[in-house]
Amino acid sequence: SLVVNEDMVMGVRGGRILFMEPKDKLDALLCSFEMDKENLMTLEKNQFIIPGFVDSHAHAPQYTFMGTGGDLPLIPWLQTYTYPTETLLNTDDSFARDVYEKCVNRTLRNGSTTVSYYATISADATRILTDVIECQGQRAFIGKVNMDTNSPDDYVETLEESVKETHRFVEDILARKNPLLTPCITPRFAGSCTHELMEDLGKIARGHSLPIQTHISENRDEVKMIADMFPQAKNYTDVYDRAGVLGDKTILAHGVYLSDEELQVIGERGSGISHCPNSNFTLKSGILDVRKVMNAGIKLGLGTDFAGGHSPSMLDAIRRGVTAANTLTFSQRSDQGQLELVTYKDLFRLATLGSAELMGISDQIGNFEVGKQLDALVIDPEVDQSPFDVFSTDSREDIIQKFLFVGDDRNIVKVFVNANQVV
Ligand code: GUN
Ligand code: FE
Repeated sequence: SLVVNEDMVMGVRGGRILFMEPKDKLDALLCSFEMDKENLMTLEKNQFIIPGFVDSHAHAPQYTFMGTGGDLPLIPWLQTYTYPTETLLNTDDSFARDVYEKCVNRTLRNGSTTVSYYATISADATRILTDVIECQGQRAFIGKVNMDTNSPDDYVETLEESVKETHRFVEDILARKNPLLTPCITPRFAGSCTHELMEDLGKIARGHSLPIQTHISENRDEVKMIADMFPQAKNYTDVYDRAGVLGDKTILAHGVYLSDEELQVIGERGSGISHCPNSNFTLKSGILDVRKVMNAGIKLGLGTDFAGGHSPSMLDAIRRGVTAANTLTFSQRSDQGQLELVTYKDLFRLATLGSAELMGISDQIGNFEVGKQLDALVIDPEVDQSPFDVFSTDSREDIIQKFLFVGDDRNIVKVFVNANQVV
């Protein structure tokens, strides 16, 4: 649930939250933790802090064409816009660096303190994204994309290259020993990987205890394509399950057309779903039944999926998520015949703690529990040019709700990752 604390003081040391207590205890706390009053940061009237947003699914190279290309559904969209753009960034380092610098800066300014990124297929090109993220201080999962079949001639790998490049990219990130960066094994989707590659990637992930990210059941034509490619598999989920890539750190984007049986398998394996409502609307993919996934007890996070989605902002993802859920209530009722609403509070949770659980890092981030690392946003609802107004009739919750529905990056005045100010 959404908890609003007023008049509090938070202590932070070594990036971690040491205490959160009523502010009248300030002097005693400073004394007992041997902290200095000079390092105190005070919020202005009506300013508040929230946990940083966790975008559980985004494509850094696609930032190039974000806001365009929404005229096609998934498969032709991949062939027409996505693959040609990724091919370019995969080979042109200076263009890639320019796009990645702007992309990471944009997501940080929009309050995404953690992002799970897909890069492109080469380890060297993925290293450029890693350098940029490290330089700007974001927390991230980074994936070199794997594709060894059913892909353009100039944007495809052999099985051997794919495995070798994956080892290279994993070793590059692990060698940095930067606790904010995690290599993420990234088979693009069943449609671009052979069973053999998928199996090898599962082994690499298990060998290093790494997370895996991929797409699943996003679009009806895609589901049919996967069924045609893998006639032995019971369903889309089974393609991944047979290859051993459904683990307790597997992030499955979309999941719009998963059956109850598939949801059950995903739940049993400890995998989870990244809900990407902007992308699902923009590419006309469909609407995920969020309430059903939540009621099934499956890990669930929120993602922008730019540039399938046309916004880098998790505020947008929250709003589209509310609209997606509201749209389903026009036609669906729960078994008890009662509407089970999904509210902005549910979506705010998915955008923070939900995504952190999905990524397996909720012991580190996602909310302000003592002991977690401080990833936080300072929100100023009354900043110059604020897109909304605050009135004396507004409660604290009203102000937060206004920010979530009407606010934008102008209201995000400071961004902290691991207690370091990055914006
Ligand atoms: N399925 C396979 N690749 C992609 C991609 O880049 N974006 C989305 N939205 N779906 C995919
Ligand atoms: Fe995607």
